[in-house]
Amino acid sequence: MSHAATHPHRVFDPLLRLLHWVIALSIVSLIATSQLADWFEHGPYEKTLWNLHILIGYTLTAGLLTRLLWSLAGPASARWRDLWHPAVWKDSVRNLRLPKTHRAGHDPIASLGYLFAYGVMALMVVTGLGLAASEFQTGPLAGWLGDVAWLEDVLGEPHEFGFGLMLGFIGLHLAALVFHQWRGERVAQSMVTGKQYLGAGNEVQHD
Ligand code: HEM
Repeated sequence: MSHAATHPHRVFDPLLRLLHWVIALSIVSLIATSQLADWFEHGPYEKTLWNLHILIGYTLTAGLLTRLLWSLAGPASARWRDLWHPAVWKDSVRNLRLPKTHRAGHDPIASLGYLFAYGVMALMVVTGLGLAASEFQTGPLAGWLGDVAWLEDVLGEPHEFGFGLMLGFIGLHLAALVFHQWRGERVAQSMVTGKQYLGAGNEVQHD
């Protein structure tokens, strides 16, 4: 769709956008600290890097919990309903085609990826808090799980598996944004400005 044929609509509210960036920056920092800690294993900075990783993990936890509350109490484009499009998914699978029109709010196909990503983030938070307690005797679960040493082995594998899944989501998410940009569709800017550029015939729902 060319720029000239589209008009801006205010869609994503400031809190939703702030949470997007808190979550995205937390994840990038969690990836960086985990890789640096592995790199400097047994070195003088290893413990500091894991402590930093745990602190950033709390930020991600707070961001996710706030996003969960906002999905229940926020405007229409922040609600879970805006990520749930089973009719579009069924139609796409049955007829092997992507939706022709753009709607105000989250893209229905991308929403599948967001639901997947939130599931992976929940897995990372639960296993991460468990690891902080069992391996470092710190965090909200430390009093309960602080002396359960075997938990470290049980939670380590899914935490690492989730890390791989998260990298896959990030690669796909960024590739999709670059693809839209390349087609002349101003999608990426919407998580900064809150505006979406939609054509006259597209589905627009205001809150
Ligand atoms: C580690 C990096 C990132 C992660 C983990 C991430 C994660 C997510 C998630 C979970 C959503 C759904 C948001 C919601 O609940 O409302 C989302 C949507 C979105 N993200 Fe990101 N994001 C990342 C980087 C970026 C970057 C660099 C941009 C562009 C500058 C971007 C632009 C967008 C846009 C435009 C949407 C909404 C798209 C739509 O209309 O469906 N993201 N992202």
